[in-house]
Amino acid sequence: MVVNQRPRRYTSLTWKAENAMERLNIIQTVVEMTRAKTYLEIGVASGAIFFRVKARHKIAVDPRFEFSTMKRLRYLIKNPWNIANKYYEMTSDEFFQNEGANVEQSGIDVAFVDGLHTFEQSLTDVSNCLRYLNKGGVIILHDCNPPSEAAAFPAASFDHARKANVSGWTGDWCGDVWKTIVYLRSVDANLRIFVLDCDTGVGIMTRGYPDATLDFTKERIDLLSYDHLRKKRDEWLNLKKPHLIRDLLERAWCGAS
Ligand SMILES: C[S@@+](CC[C@H](N)C(=O)[O-])C[C@H]1O[C@@H](n2cnc3c(N)ncnc32)[C@H](O)[C@@H]1O
Repeated sequence: MVVNQRPRRYTSLTWKAENAMERLNIIQTVVEMTRAKTYLEIGVASGAIFFRVKARHKIAVDPRFEFSTMKRLRYLIKNPWNIANKYYEMTSDEFFQNEGANVEQSGIDVAFVDGLHTFEQSLTDVSNCLRYLNKGGVIILHDCNPPSEAAAFPAASFDHARKANVSGWTGDWCGDVWKTIVYLRSVDANLRIFVLDCDTGVGIMTRGYPDATLDFTKERIDLLSYDHLRKKRDEWLNLKKPHLIRDLLERAWCGAS
């Protein structure tokens, strides 16, 4: 039987929704593999990911939450794992400064870093998470593989990037978060790092021997542009197929190359 299929309208909204599902699946897989008790999300916005994750203690950090108390309650009914959530409406720097002692008590099993999309701030966020990362813990860094020069536009904030009138701007902003991957692969010999080639690049970091390293200094990285990344994307980001996530993490934990 021939099924009469209508051509699917592929709008930017469907693309965004599919990307969100993809990263949610990755995050949930990592939460389950690590048997995570504590999940931290830096940069939560509307909670599209945060409220759906199933983990025992979930911590949300964002200077401007985009959800109401009603939405929090609705999600508590939809996903009972939201019962013990903690909300910190502040920047990630303020969170680590004010709550460091509390975070130290539980440690972090899985962190999803998706706050301010600059090299400096994403590096600071990852470094702060590393300080509290429990053994076998994983840091997931979003937006490591910008799909275009416009998406990779380095700016101080989303609003600065939006107002810069960059040609090809679609509203998706990754900034220069990719430089954090290049930098850490150059300087931290105790981190296994790869980027899953899906969504806008889902970076995975866990303690363990790196399978390959880079040798950039911070000064050289500061001078790199999107054009450099475009030519070396696979090598610099250590791009991997997303369906290999389980295998890649198990190899990282047992130190295999
Ligand atoms: C791309 S959105 C996060 C999306 C969300 N993680 C998801 O996957 O649906 C980025 C968020 O980072 C927040 N943000 C900006 N600067 C921040 C900072 N310094 N610390 C923490 N969050 C920040 C913004 O308010 C915004 O809500």
